[in-house]
Parts: sequence; C-alpha cells; structure tokens
Amino acid sequence: MATNEALELIASLQGYLRDLRDTGVEGLPAGSVFPAVRGAVPSLQVEHPPVAAAEPLRTESTIVPVPAVQVGGIDGVRQELGDCRRCGLAATRTNLVFGAGSSAARLVFVGEAPGGDEDQQGIPFVGEAGQLLTKIISAMGFRRDEIYICNVLKCRPPQNRNPHPDEIQQCHPFLLRQLQAIGPEVIVALGTFAAQTLLRTKEPISKLRGVFHDYHGIALMPTFHPAYLLRNAGMKREVWEDMQKVMKRLGVEPPAKR
Ligand code: URA
Repeated sequence: MATNEALELIASLQGYLRDLRDTGVEGLPAGSVFPAVRGAVPSLQVEHPPVAAAEPLRTESTIVPVPAVQVGGIDGVRQELGDCRRCGLAATRTNLVFGAGSSAARLVFVGEAPGGDEDQQGIPFVGEAGQLLTKIISAMGFRRDEIYICNVLKCRPPQNRNPHPDEIQQCHPFLLRQLQAIGPEVIVALGTFAAQTLLRTKEPISKLRGVFHDYHGIALMPTFHPAYLLRNAGMKREVWEDMQKVMKRLGVEPPAKR
C-alpha cells in the first residue's frame, strides 16, 4: 500500500474510532469491519432521553465548590503554567494552546486538546472543527472574543491520539483555575472526552448531553464535539437543541435571520 493511502486509511480509522467513542461505544463492536475498508457507513443514531427544561444541576460526583477568591486572575494562571514541561507532550508540541477569548466571559467552551492547526497557531479551535464551532457561536449571537474557548489539554497529543491519564492529571488543575478565574455562568463541554473529564464520569456523551450538570458550582452542558458533527451532520440538530438551552439560561436570543 502506498504511503498516502496508508495515511488516509489511518486518518479515516481514527475518525471512525472517535465516532464510536462519541456515541458512547468503548472499543470496536464485535464483528465490525472498518467502514473505509468495507465501504459501509455504520449507523450511529442513538436514543436520547427526553430533556427537561431548567432542571436543577446534576452532580455526578463529590465536586468541591470553587473558592471565591482568585489571585492573579487568568493572567496569573497563564504565568504559573509558564513554559510547561509537566508532561511528555511538551517535547512534541509546537505551541502551548492556553485558551482564547474574554477573561470575563459568561460562556466558556471546553474541547479535548489542540489539533495540528491549533498546535501551529497556539490558538484553540482554528481548524475545520473550529470553523464549525465559530459558526455555532455566531448562531448563538456571540462573537468569539466575547466568550472563552480552551481545552482539557493545552498541548497537542502526537497524531491527535487520545489524551493519557497522566497528561490530564497534570493539566486539569490549570483548566480548573482558568475556569475559576473567568467564573462563567455556563460551560459547554465539547465531546465525550471533555464531558467525562470535567464530570469525572464514564457515562457516554449521548447520555450526558442535553441537560445541565454541576461543575464546581457552574452549570455545565455537555454536547457533541464539532469534529463529530463534521462526520455526522445529522447530529447538528441535537447540538442546536443543547445550545438553545444554554442561550435560555444566559437569557440571550439568537440574532434575527436576515
Ligand atoms: N479539537 C479540540 O478538541 N480542540 C481544539 O482546539 C481543536 C480541535
């Protein structure tokens, strides 16, 4: 097999495995054949529980409330992170991707980890998935500089592999302090990985999404990752339903269509 074909096949397989993970499937289903090889498209439709509006926040675990006092704000967190070498990702990253947007944002989006484009530019969500996220943010009536965007991991895992537990362990305290410093009213966790990490649960995103959860006293809405939407456009409706709940909670209307 030519190198290009092999690389395309690996990228396609990675996408398929992420789709499975994003719909809550752990590992390959028994007897499955990778669709790019077989030429078949797997059915990824999942059943969603009915969603109750304005429910009280759900607490998945014993979450410690955020201390009210912050020293140094978001710049203090950035300073303390410095030229981070706390895990092995420092050796392979081009740029550390801290986060971008308003330090007084009412709304924060948290993704998984920087990809190639983000690693090159040092800015979160600037690749293809990022462009879709920007469209979602605009459809909600916000500009990117009014909200805040960051990731669970601040450095790109090689070949965009899944983050490792030790990497999360090193990085999560900085994310927590970043979120504490901003103090948003709502956090949107994008995809399985962000939702499971922030809520300390193994529940699949298909079960977590659509209702508000509690993250250290902040309302957290899990929803599907934009990269997943790029491969499963049919799930955009669910994401828009989730974002409408976020808008309702923030008391904002989507901009009128022209
Ligand atoms: N995917 C993420 O989870 N984060 C990014 O910044 C880009 C793509």
